Amino acid sequence: MLFRTSRLCLVLVVVTAPCWAYFEPHTHDACFCQLSGRIDECTCNIDTVDHFNNVKVYPRLRSLLLKDYFRFFKANLKRECPFWHDDSKCAMRYCHVQACGDGDVPVGIKGTAKLKKEEKEEDTCGGSDKELDYLNKTISAKMKKDLVMWTKYDDANDNFCVVDENDEDAEYVDLLLNPERFTGYKGSSANRIWNSIYLENCFRPKSYYSLYIPSSKLNSMCLEERVYYRAISGLHTSINIHLCANYLLSHSNGLSLTDPKGEWGPSLVEFERRFSPETTNGEGPNWLRNLYFIYLLELRALAKAAPYLEQETFYTGNEAEDFDTQMAVKDLLNIAKQFPNHFDETTMFTGSAQAARLKHEFKEHFLNVTRIMDCVGCDKCKLWGKLQTKGLGTALKILFSQKFNQKKLFQLQREEIVALFNAFGRLSTSIYKLDNFREMLEH
Ligand SMILES: *[C@@H]1O[C@H](CO)[C@@H](O)[C@H](O)[C@H]1NC(C)=O
Ligand SMILES: *[C@@H]1O[C@H](CO)[C@@H](O)[C@H](O)[C@H]1NC(C)=O
Repeated sequence: MLFRTSRLCLVLVVVTAPCWAYFEPHTHDACFCQLSGRIDECTCNIDTVDHFNNVKVYPRLRSLLLKDYFRFFKANLKRECPFWHDDSKCAMRYCHVQACGDGDVPVGIKGTAKLKKEEKEEDTCGGSDKELDYLNKTISAKMKKDLVMWTKYDDANDNFCVVDENDEDAEYVDLLLNPERFTGYKGSSANRIWNSIYLENCFRPKSYYSLYIPSSKLNSMCLEERVYYRAISGLHTSINIHLCANYLLSHSNGLSLTDPKGEWGPSLVEFERRFSPETTNGEGPNWLRNLYFIYLLELRALAKAAPYLEQETFYTGNEAEDFDTQMAVKDLLNIAKQFPNHFDETTMFTGSAQAARLKHEFKEHFLNVTRIMDCVGCDKCKLWGKLQTKGLGTALKILFSQKFNQKKLFQLQREEIVALFNAFGRLSTSIYKLDNFREMLEH
């Protein structure tokens, strides 16, 4: 109990302390002034996470995500935007996504997708019936039908993401051939995405209308609302770090966005533009802190789901590779489990009817964020946006689903697992890349 109270106090202290309180003499740049001390809502320090990630997690993930099971992600990039009409589709060559041809995807992956679908159909018609029969042999046919419907409804309720991989238009994409990097997609179409996420799909302090919530105002919101905001902000930060770390350097040298000889690399100018206190009303350094928060959130989800994920076969049809993948996943999960100060999700949504309502809103907001991804005008950004929101949504499902503790009922689909690991891989890469920028600034 004492522990918990002291943690809450620390959160308050850390959030409201001024920038210079963290200014270390050897750090030349103000972007990093908030990157020390305790991570908000958590019990561990930034430098603990830096070391843990850069030494233990990042190298493992880097090789794991090259495996066939994780490199092919299926999504529907052709869904219509449900909220507004956007005809400013990005036609620039770097926005384009190259979908896989029929022969590119291992048969095993396509096979399991099919199999899983059939299994699922069987589940609702045959499989779960057996269990119902076991519970009550006298159950009526009508009752059986209703129960199946309720279970389906509950299942849908369990998801924090809209599902699009079963759509007819869904296609496999090789993530390694379509890396996340600066595409030139910006302007009003891009701004509209983040505006609608922050302004219409986040919790906000009463009568506060500016886009980003300053860290000093965050404390007027409750824990769950802050967690939601920090997760969104952390995701936004991470995406921006990738764009800065894989910036089209030749563009800054005057090369046009359509030139096939594009050259990508880290841009310190772009990084400072996005995160220095001068250009962000002092908030940039806090956004960087939120990256560490979402990292811990997803790390906790991986550790929590470890018993489930350790049973996965990661089937692609190539026996040797599948075995390697299983071993590499187990190795990574062991590291995740060993992390000593995990985010504690059990403090959230506890108690009253109000907690249930809050959870409902939390889920509705996030579901809607995954729908907004269909409005992204640049296919490559849409692909990575979908992947990363699905990964975060899967983490939330692991952390907050009622069904998680009922082993038989909890299920993750292949695309959820692929998204979870790749999304975490993106966060891990961001933290790793921050070190590069820090070094560049010191020289
Ligand atoms: C089984 O279901 C029937 C019909 O709904 C009900 O009347 C009966 O009490 C149930 N039996 C048990 C053991 O729950
Ligand atoms: C979903 O997002 C759109 C676009 O921001 C917004 O107009 C709408 O009100 C949101 N719906 C819900 C249920 O939050």
